[in-house]
Amino acid sequence: MKSAPFHIKHAPVLETEITVPGDKSVSHRAIMLAALSNGVCKITNFLEGEDCLSTAAAFRQLGVTIEQPEPGTLVVYGTRGVLTAPQGPIDCGNSGTTMRLMSGILAAQSFTSELTGDASLQNRPMRRVVEPLTRMGAKIRTGGARDTPPLLIEGGPLQAITYRTPVASAQVKSAILLAGLFAEGVTTVIEPSPSRDHTERMLEYFLVKLETEHPKPTSPTKECRISLQGRQQIESRDFSVPGDISSAAFWLVAAAARPGSRLLIKNVGLNPTRTGIIGVLIRMGARLREVVEVVAQGEPCGVIDIKGGRLRGTVIAGDEIPNVIDEIPILAVAGALAEGETIIRDAKELRVKETDRIAAIASNLRLMGVPVEEFEDGMKITGGQKLKGAKLPSYGDHRIAMAFAIAGLHASGETVIEDTACVQTSYPGFESTLMDILQRNSMRQKRTPVISSLDSRRRRGKSSKK
Ligand code: S3P
Repeated sequence: MKSAPFHIKHAPVLETEITVPGDKSVSHRAIMLAALSNGVCKITNFLEGEDCLSTAAAFRQLGVTIEQPEPGTLVVYGTRGVLTAPQGPIDCGNSGTTMRLMSGILAAQSFTSELTGDASLQNRPMRRVVEPLTRMGAKIRTGGARDTPPLLIEGGPLQAITYRTPVASAQVKSAILLAGLFAEGVTTVIEPSPSRDHTERMLEYFLVKLETEHPKPTSPTKECRISLQGRQQIESRDFSVPGDISSAAFWLVAAAARPGSRLLIKNVGLNPTRTGIIGVLIRMGARLREVVEVVAQGEPCGVIDIKGGRLRGTVIAGDEIPNVIDEIPILAVAGALAEGETIIRDAKELRVKETDRIAAIASNLRLMGVPVEEFEDGMKITGGQKLKGAKLPSYGDHRIAMAFAIAGLHASGETVIEDTACVQTSYPGFESTLMDILQRNSMRQKRTPVISSLDSRRRRGKSSKK
């Protein structure tokens, strides 16, 4: 579905406090573990973005009762791991997390199922989950030409395996661990370096016993090893989802790169496997502080305080990549705003995200007048010049749309982001937060609003008639 473009003008300083919606990765996993648990679980601050709603719809199709007593709250009635055969294919929409994690769960059920998705998801590689699950005894066929969806899963008994993942991927690790919950014996996943660990933290919170060996600071490798004994009970618990640092990332960069800005982001998840962006921005010279206020249900949560300033280029590569994988689009924008060169390497995975993000970032930055050299696994960005407003495609990718909306705030003239419906997959309130921040600034500075879209123009039109 196409939607109204964002029209963005150069913005004044940002000076405000915000919260961001619930974490996408955590929201998916909360539904999954609640649905497999032995009782009723209430999930609060659930992200009602399209990706997580795809997971909720999938479990409803698998016979799980999920109520929504109020916005952002779900009550999930656990099934003790026994799901019901779905009527027809399960549509995962745009969500790779839904498809890959659910493949691990469905491989162990006593029925056949089919997982499908939108045009973007139909192009994403699934061999990475099919291969280990097949080793566990799963019968999965890919319907697409290049090991791409749909996934046709004939569920049945599974055996535990020890599996070394070729790349650090939380989706692959989680698919194997979720399958391992149903398998006979101890399943072990060995990752080349740690990927986000929400599945492990949440399994422990739901009282599943896990053993995790993290790399020692002195160890020559960054290998991480996670083991779990199969057939454990998942105890039902209530769960409150922290704010999504990947959504906060857009505002972090918007404020960090603008001298005079001051932004406080509250109730945001500060899981160290997700806060790589903070380290990168500090290296770029950002004045930024994180404070963990609570560790709730296994997830650290707190505030990030940013004071705007001048940024300088950096290198983002190696083991740091899994920790910032979703933030590369906005970090590339930060690189364009920084003095000097920013080099991104070892991020080939970006070629198979919701779109080819390396190509999309490079093309959009060039349209804004930024010199970019593209590599197979990253890019070199020459920052420091004034960004020019431009008409930019979103490629149907939420993080490309939002990253370049932020670039537009720092550009001269008008920036138009086309096809912005994709923003709903992870950040339904993005446009209104942008409006709030900017209208507050423009009121203070008696300037005109810097963003408008057809929808928001319509909204403004309606309210002015009241
Ligand atoms: C996710 C893991 C990451 C990330 C994605 C969400 C998850 O993918 O890019 O947006 O929730 O497990 P990979 O694990 O494939 O790198």
